[in-house]
Amino acid sequence: MNTDLIQVEHGYFNQHSMVVQKKSNLLKNYSRYSVQFEYGDGYFLFDKQGNKYLDFLSGIAVTSFGHNNKKIKDAVLEQVNKLWHTSNLFESDQQEKLAEVLAEKTNLEYVFFCNSGTEANEAAIKFARKWGKGKSNIIAAKNSFHGRTMGSLSATGQEKLWQGFFPMTPGFSFVEFGNITELINEYNKNPESTAAVMLEPIQGESGIIVPPKNYLKSVREFCDKNNLLLIIDEIQTGMGRTGKLFCYQYEDIKPDIVTVAKGIANGLPLAAVICTKEVGDEIKPGDHGSTFGGNPVALSAALSVIDMVDDNLLKNNIILGNLLQKAIKKLNSEKIKEVRGMGLMIGVELHQGVSAKNIAKLLLEKNVVVGTSGDSVLRLLPPFIINMKAINQFLESFKNVLKIL
Ligand SMILES: Cc1ncc(COP(=O)(O)O)c(C=O)c1O
Repeated sequence: MNTDLIQVEHGYFNQHSMVVQKKSNLLKNYSRYSVQFEYGDGYFLFDKQGNKYLDFLSGIAVTSFGHNNKKIKDAVLEQVNKLWHTSNLFESDQQEKLAEVLAEKTNLEYVFFCNSGTEANEAAIKFARKWGKGKSNIIAAKNSFHGRTMGSLSATGQEKLWQGFFPMTPGFSFVEFGNITELINEYNKNPESTAAVMLEPIQGESGIIVPPKNYLKSVREFCDKNNLLLIIDEIQTGMGRTGKLFCYQYEDIKPDIVTVAKGIANGLPLAAVICTKEVGDEIKPGDHGSTFGGNPVALSAALSVIDMVDDNLLKNNIILGNLLQKAIKKLNSEKIKEVRGMGLMIGVELHQGVSAKNIAKLLLEKNVVVGTSGDSVLRLLPPFIINMKAINQFLESFKNVLKIL
């Protein structure tokens, strides 16, 4: 350690008494808040000093059933005591079981398990190209987010995220989200080589952008007419967050490929690609795989999660989400431009000059954890187990923060 530095709680003083960055061997790819949570219970998190925080972020749409959920914990502990890992060389009852439920609930056929959202999208891109038999182009949306690995990053319509990492994987083009005419025009530039359209049902990372009603339905019709696959990225919207198991189900469509991660195992690393028989039949042994994907411990959590995402819970997510949206609008703050979203995926867009990051920081100081999307949108992704008490606690803190801005 550098002896010129004097340690204080969240950093070090140098000889000029300026707080400098704490020495760390961790890569500087995240800008972190200087809070560390030590344990969680329900919709509360507790830091190392024992301070209690209201969790309205759920680890970015992951811990949907809160922390320390008994049913999930018991299932995980039971599996931990039995077996941690074999390999995908062997059969797995847990994988079979969850695949059966996911296939039944989506009316799709095959499921591939992996570990993270970006990996699920990588697999979806490969599956679409294999199905395409030479047709390899995928039309995605501007301002989309599909992940950080090279294929998913290339499918992500945000040039700022590409900087420093060129060349991108070829074969992706981008159209305005929600604009079917742009999609048709883009397809018409390259019909022979286009295999698929890839979309989030609500764009999460770029500000909880909800497309116009029937947009996905029109895209589905267009894909059917032109023999294109429709890939729906439900990584943030899925597993009940928006009030349906999968958000595309609001439009009564059937995608060809659905990718799922985040909330699927309440915090253990798991992701899934669900696809039609037609797509899945193209994938042969050796075409794709994962060492850890479909790990039995993560699967035991996921089987408990899917069991709890029933119709009552989904209805409740819609009621709670509407209540929360209405109450935020009622705050009538001149700082707030728009409140939008579906179920418990809510974006609060702020007027120009009001920083979402600043509000998130001030809320954290008031022991409330929220997220942001870009500079101007506050992102609320509370766990499904919240109630009026939690909502009122959030509103009280939010009101106070808006006052002191
Ligand atoms: C819609 C969407 N797709 C993909 C990803 C990438 O998931 P992961 O971080 O698990 O790789 C995210 C993550 O935020 C996402 O929101």
